[in-house]
Amino acid sequence: MRILSGIKPTGRLHLGNYFGMMRPSLELQNRGEAYYFIADYHALTTVHNAKELQEYTRGVAIDFLACGLDPKKAVFFKQSDVPEVCELTWLLSTVTPMGLLERCHAYKDHLAKEKGPNHALFAYPVLMAADILIYQSDQVPVGRDQKQHIEIARDIAVKFNHTFGDVFKIPEPLIQKGVELVPGTDGRKMSKSYHNTIEIFEDPKWIQKKIMSIKTDSTPVEEPKNPDTCPLIALLRLMASSEETEQFVSRYRKGGIGYGEVKKRLAELAIETFQEARARREELLAHPSRIDQILAGGAEHARAVARRTLAKAREAVGL
Ligand code: ADP
Ligand code: TRP
Repeated sequence: MRILSGIKPTGRLHLGNYFGMMRPSLELQNRGEAYYFIADYHALTTVHNAKELQEYTRGVAIDFLACGLDPKKAVFFKQSDVPEVCELTWLLSTVTPMGLLERCHAYKDHLAKEKGPNHALFAYPVLMAADILIYQSDQVPVGRDQKQHIEIARDIAVKFNHTFGDVFKIPEPLIQKGVELVPGTDGRKMSKSYHNTIEIFEDPKWIQKKIMSIKTDSTPVEEPKNPDTCPLIALLRLMASSEETEQFVSRYRKGGIGYGEVKKRLAELAIETFQEARARREELLAHPSRIDQILAGGAEHARAVARRTLAKAREAVGL
């Protein structure tokens, strides 16, 4: 089984990225042939500063390795080190209906927020389909917000195979139950674009401050509280043992617990959970050439696979 996922280098790693995409990907590296990449072509849809792009790309590489990506088990590379993916994007575009892309949530959100989205933003899902299909991926672990993009990749693969003959495997999205949406400090989905993120490798004091600032309702301490709608409980479920979470849940239902107490515990957990990763990260920062070596090795491996698929696709369309 081939597992593939990508992460865009557009900012620093936050709890939403980690629990939604990175942790499931790390678990899966033991269960199949894993391909994980840094989606720098995708980041270019919004990052228009060369130095920034390079810093973010390096940052994601370090963070992914620090969190446990094992380059002996997973092929780890930069998307742009396999430029064949851009040629495949063009071939796939020829069977992609405009309407399919116009219906994308991500594109519609940009349309609503920004003055004028660029063409790359509109074509984003086609490049993402090429990422997935070029490696003949079976499963794609992502957060729920990416599900629509995987469905588009499936639609494009089916259409291409139907039009030109069987070239691509049809991929499946893999969305972890329970971490569909990690809430941010304002209770909405944690996302860089909402400025409500908790970055996992920030200074511990800053993490604590951020967690203490999570928005909660104004139910008084004595009164019962609803654990099912509280972002603190959702975050606790990700980091505390199930026994500890259940204790908090039952104290919520009884009343007599203040949000401040939960936040304090949550801050401890957020720091503890990433302690080892933090140490590994320091170690990697001290040996930067190791990161270049890993990415170069990954690119070589990935490129060989990509070239084979692209050759088949070119032949199928008549090039
Ligand atoms: P952001 O929304 O901060 O820009 P990205 O879009 O770069 O994050 O997401 C990178 C990966 O992390 C994707 O697979 C996405 O589904 C996952 N992810 C991001 N935020 C969350 C969240 N709040 N809950 C679950 N998964 C998330
Ligand atoms: N669009 C994804 C995100 O924003 C990143 C990504 C690019 C990706 N190509 C991919 C994820 C292929 C999975 C498979 O998070």
